[in-house]
Amino acid sequence: MKKYEDTNHIIHHGDALEVLQSEIESNSVDLVFVDPPYNIGKKFSKFKDSWSSNAEYVNWAYKWIDECIRVLKPTGTLYLMTSTQAMPYFDIYVRDKLEVLSRIVWSYDSSGVQAKKYYGSKYEPILHCVKNPKSYCFNADDILVEAKTGAKRKLIDYRGDTPKLYNTKKVPGNVWEFSRVRYRMHEYEEHPSQKPEALLNRIIRASSNKGDVVLDPFSGTFTTASVAKNLERKSISIESQDEYIKIGLRRILDMEEHLGEKLEPVKKNTKIKNGRGAKHNDKTEDLFSVNY
Ligand SMILES: C[S@@+](CC[C@H](N)C(=O)[O-])C[C@H]1O[C@@H](n2cnc3c(N)ncnc32)[C@H](O)[C@@H]1O
Repeated sequence: MKKYEDTNHIIHHGDALEVLQSEIESNSVDLVFVDPPYNIGKKFSKFKDSWSSNAEYVNWAYKWIDECIRVLKPTGTLYLMTSTQAMPYFDIYVRDKLEVLSRIVWSYDSSGVQAKKYYGSKYEPILHCVKNPKSYCFNADDILVEAKTGAKRKLIDYRGDTPKLYNTKKVPGNVWEFSRVRYRMHEYEEHPSQKPEALLNRIIRASSNKGDVVLDPFSGTFTTASVAKNLERKSISIESQDEYIKIGLRRILDMEEHLGEKLEPVKKNTKIKNGRGAKHNDKTEDLFSVNY
């Protein structure tokens, strides 16, 4: 276990459960975002995301879920992700300990074929939970989106006593459309499960204030800490893999070198040949479906 830090940001290199148990005080964190391994066989550097049974996976997860709840302040919020298969277990486990306010679907498009004999997976579920439904942070005005129905067509709402124009802005519903991170996006890092900054931007703006502490126990490419930093929040990150820790040291603590190695962003080959993109292990069509 090793710790790196500056005034506002801490990075723990180690196992999430061990670090939570030994390093993070009870009732000290305003917002926890958890995007753990999903038990779907991905390779995260030297770590294989695979447990021998569902029961083993969820029993492992319940331990760090309990820790996340312990470290949350009484007014705190937890966002919890996992695979569609495992989410029912998490949901039933968590609802006895926290109030689940929303069951969010992060929906994304992909031009690649995902399944031919069943309906391919195009979403990931996220639970939005709070410790106290009577006292929690939700900055609705900071995450408003366009209310498409009335805004563009200038429709008039006749339901009240006085007719009025429909609202042009609204709080987003629980289906969120954000593109997955593609090779050519500015934020891309080498990692098999990087979450988009746009997703974390909505979560952190809504559920924390400037100066609040945001914790991510499975940091990967440090998306959470990076967005927290941009939004002037403090961050605590935990990651077990050396390869990804280096991303955090560069992205969050602005370190240029670590153990004699230069820390540099991914060098991308973005030359366009015959209208196609550079070779990469992502699907070629997906490379070009990005909004830059
Ligand atoms: C789904 S990824 C997180 C991706 C991250 N949200 C992002 O945007 O890049 C899960 C991460 O957990 C890390 N991990 C796996 N087991 C761990 C453990 N026991 N403790 C800490 N990190 C772990 C993996 O190396 C991987 O980077």
